[in-house]
Amino acid sequence: DGKLVDTVVGEVERACAGHGGTVRRATDEPGARPADLVLALIPALPEADRRPGDAPDATAASGADLAAVHAAHVDLAAVRAAHVDLAGALGAEGFALARHGQVTVVLADAPAGLLYGLFEVVRLGDTAFGPECPVRVHRPALSRRMLDHWDNVDEHPVMGQVERGYAGGSIFWRDGRPRRDRARVRAYARLLAACGVNAVAVNNVNVHATEARLLTDRLDDVAEIADDLRPYGIRVHLSVTFAAPVVLAGLATADPLDEAVRTWWAETTRRVYARIPDFGGYVVKADSEGQPGPFSYGRDHADGANLLAEALAPYGGVVHWRAFVYNHRQDWRDRSTDRARAAFDHFAPLDGRFRDNVFVQVKHGPMDFQVREPVSPVIAAMPGTRLAVEFQVTQEYTGQQRHVCYLAPWWSEVLRYRPWGEGGRSVADVAADGGDLVAVSNVGDDRFWTGHPLAQANLYAFGRLAWDPALAPEAVLDEWIDLTFDPARSADPEMLRRTLHEVMDDSWRTYERYTAPLGVGFMVRPGHHYGPDVDGYEYTPWGTYHFADRDGVGVDRTRATGTGFTGQYPPPWSQVYESLDRCPDELLLFFHHVPYDHVLHSGSTVIQHIYDTHFAGLAEVIEMSRRWESLAGLVDPAVHARVSERLAEQLRCAQEWCDQINAYFHRKSGVPDVRGRPLH
Ligand code: GCU
Repeated sequence: DGKLVDTVVGEVERACAGHGGTVRRATDEPGARPADLVLALIPALPEADRRPGDAPDATAASGADLAAVHAAHVDLAAVRAAHVDLAGALGAEGFALARHGQVTVVLADAPAGLLYGLFEVVRLGDTAFGPECPVRVHRPALSRRMLDHWDNVDEHPVMGQVERGYAGGSIFWRDGRPRRDRARVRAYARLLAACGVNAVAVNNVNVHATEARLLTDRLDDVAEIADDLRPYGIRVHLSVTFAAPVVLAGLATADPLDEAVRTWWAETTRRVYARIPDFGGYVVKADSEGQPGPFSYGRDHADGANLLAEALAPYGGVVHWRAFVYNHRQDWRDRSTDRARAAFDHFAPLDGRFRDNVFVQVKHGPMDFQVREPVSPVIAAMPGTRLAVEFQVTQEYTGQQRHVCYLAPWWSEVLRYRPWGEGGRSVADVAADGGDLVAVSNVGDDRFWTGHPLAQANLYAFGRLAWDPALAPEAVLDEWIDLTFDPARSADPEMLRRTLHEVMDDSWRTYERYTAPLGVGFMVRPGHHYGPDVDGYEYTPWGTYHFADRDGVGVDRTRATGTGFTGQYPPPWSQVYESLDRCPDELLLFFHHVPYDHVLHSGSTVIQHIYDTHFAGLAEVIEMSRRWESLAGLVDPAVHARVSERLAEQLRCAQEWCDQINAYFHRKSGVPDVRGRPLH
């Protein structure tokens, strides 16, 4: 906690430097309560007194002003009394932003609240120091806002240093060792705190041999990272292998009900906490895509998760147990096995059996982070279990940080979705009710953190939506634009802001238009998952099929004639998705196999929709590139060059998607484009 206060004071001092502002540690004042941690104030120059070229946060440094400011906050009791209704129970991370006379006040009950209050002040900029300052209480909707790094310690021969990483190497690890670029890790911690993230898992969910040892003889490496993240209110979590007792300690079994196994986890976890007292807990991918798990011992996921939860419980630690469990050795000829069903089939029957410190971590969709999927039915199926909803910030299936794809509108749709229909709770409500929001990180050692500079917006938006799922994606983007590009200081603030919105606001839907249509998913190159390959996964064991033939396309997941997946939803969605008439267009091919001339709600046929959206998506990328070019001179030249280079690749790739998808469906169906455009 002391470290957090130091962080805040340091940040404020940095912000005040050269501006004549002042920082006082209120805890040093007589009569201060623990909640009165710091009053930070930077009195801004009134608009009228500013000279051309003055920074918007330029402050009045005159003795008289400062004296007034000091006088105003000497009496802390008065400040707090004046805002007593605001400063009720703010909680571990909440804060109240208030005005007291000329002074902007951040009240918090705990240091982390002060830190987030400071970043809110930074977001508000000038506004925070004027009469327009929005006086209100802020509390995070989700108490844990977590990023999972899929970073390997050893560079993996196929997956590299960061699995599904598109921003260079890991910021934590290189070639089997910690990188020890502590300045960088601290800067990263600061970036995450500014976004609102407060938990980080530092290694890949696929735990290979070297990474397994982070839990035991390599624990010091983890402790070092924890030391660098702690001052920004971030706890470290670790992905562990379920086979740890066997591979690390030579036990004959990892059976969760075996006494020696339980003792080993208890003792190992005790050592972890002796070294890292605020350690967050374990992340586990078990019985999934070849990772070991309780099935080998005839046990289920509740047995497995509870074993680790029991070891962590004395220290307040938690288990994130992933629900991404399915048969990845499926026979493509077998139409009855449905990967979409798997998580529900495995986990829903276990509801109520997990210990209180287990979070079942479920991907937001039933398949795998496609550009469009329905919300996972697991989210509505486990009322007696804490759920962590998992997003993917790294753009594995959404352009791999070579394409502009602002994902907040997609996540926002998911968070607002109401599994029990209008009037029922939303996904955000379920996650907020004792659960978590988790995302796979998109950060690496790239100079722009995320490879594509505009992909930083996804990192920022994840943290912001986890703090407040009701935020509008465009408003979050606006915040990010302000913090990143500082339009107020540019030669044409209005054009800079407008153009960035035009490029980014709808970029997720643009990506959807030129890739796999109507919720059918995949159609990507197997292995690396970049670029089009319509049949790439069609005859593979992975369970990701589209079933296109000469007559139609899509997966029949109905109860009447298909896999029965629609039955995993509560009403009204179980009926909506079952019904060809009521199913939303954008998910049609996820739930139904239809002929090409099936007419959508939009009035278009499926085949014509495919042609139209692909031409439209491509045209939008051309327009996006043109708009970005118009920003030359208004943004940092290095950022401009990097984005331009990526847009050239996005355009090439979008053209490839458009041509392959259109040609494929034209050849299959024989139906021409009603507008007569060439389909290759
Ligand atoms: C995807 C991804 C894998 C990852 C897996 C997971 O399938 O391609 O690289 O390991 O998700 O979430 O565990």
